[in-house]
Amino acid sequence: MPLFRRIFLLNALVLIANARLLRVGLAPLHLLTRAMTTIDLLRPGQRPAVGGQGEVAELITTFNTMVDRLEEERAASSARVLSAQEAERRRVAQELHDEVGQTLTAVLLELERVAGQAPPGLREEMRQVQETTRAGLDEVRRIARRLRPGVLDELGLASALKSLATDFGAPGLSVRHRLDADLPPLDREAEVVLYRVAQEGLTNVARHARARHAEIVLRRTHTGVELYVRDDGHGTGDAAEGAGIRGMRERALLVGAGLALVPGPGGGTEVRLTVPVPTPVHDPDRNGRS
Ligand SMILES: Nc1ncnc2c1ncn2[C@@H]1O[C@H](COP(=O)(O)OP(=O)(O)OP(=O)(O)O)[C@@H](O)[C@H]1O
Ligand SMILES: [Mg+2]
Repeated sequence: MPLFRRIFLLNALVLIANARLLRVGLAPLHLLTRAMTTIDLLRPGQRPAVGGQGEVAELITTFNTMVDRLEEERAASSARVLSAQEAERRRVAQELHDEVGQTLTAVLLELERVAGQAPPGLREEMRQVQETTRAGLDEVRRIARRLRPGVLDELGLASALKSLATDFGAPGLSVRHRLDADLPPLDREAEVVLYRVAQEGLTNVARHARARHAEIVLRRTHTGVELYVRDDGHGTGDAAEGAGIRGMRERALLVGAGLALVPGPGGGTEVRLTVPVPTPVHDPDRNGRS
């Protein structure tokens, strides 16, 4: 083989080897670029694997540390916003109940008194005014209940979910509930998260699913509790997540829970919230004495 051909072949081999080395060396950077474009702070824990040499590995480690910090900050600010939102809802509900509710009740009582003395020709009109006032009072109470699930404070999560399912009035939709009786003790924050996710889940069923049946299931698992909100509607398709679903994700993060939206077992959509319940720490000092 002539010399110039040998040199040419040698050069080509060196070039191919270099290109391969470069591809292997850049692979971790490709993973990093993909992570940068896809990472979502509401789905924590996704990290590119640290690979490559020297500065490449250092870059990925620094990126991962930055995402750790951003996730922590995001969780802390969500917690502040959501607890301020709950407090504000509680305040508005209280005022609706105490101010508007009391005033309407007084008006209703007064109307009843006046109706008793009204000339017969006016009685029917008075009765209609009473009906309208009563409907207004019911509406105010319903809004106050939705804003602040008082029953959650008074009777606990199971009763609050039952009344959410029972009171959920959407035309053509029937809502069932199946709630385990032996739920583990949950703290107040976890209960509010479970309730609000069930509420948004059902609201979505009523607004988007065109379903005939929906179901709320709350069951005990070996790590905590699981909530399902299922429907037999047409499914989410490729609809983008809006403020409602992102709000559910933020709430789930508050209590270390996982949230998934998947196709339901019988069609439709299933919202699944998995809430871990820490097992009580065994404290020999406390448990030894009574
Ligand atoms: N149960 C469901 N069945 C069918 N589609 C659903 C269901 N739940 C959600 N979707 C789809 O997902 C989208 C996003 O829901 P999301 O709750 O985030 O926003 P939204 O309900 O449109 O508005 P909002 O911010 O007021 O809740 C909806 O617009 C809808 O297309
Ligand atoms: Mg919604």
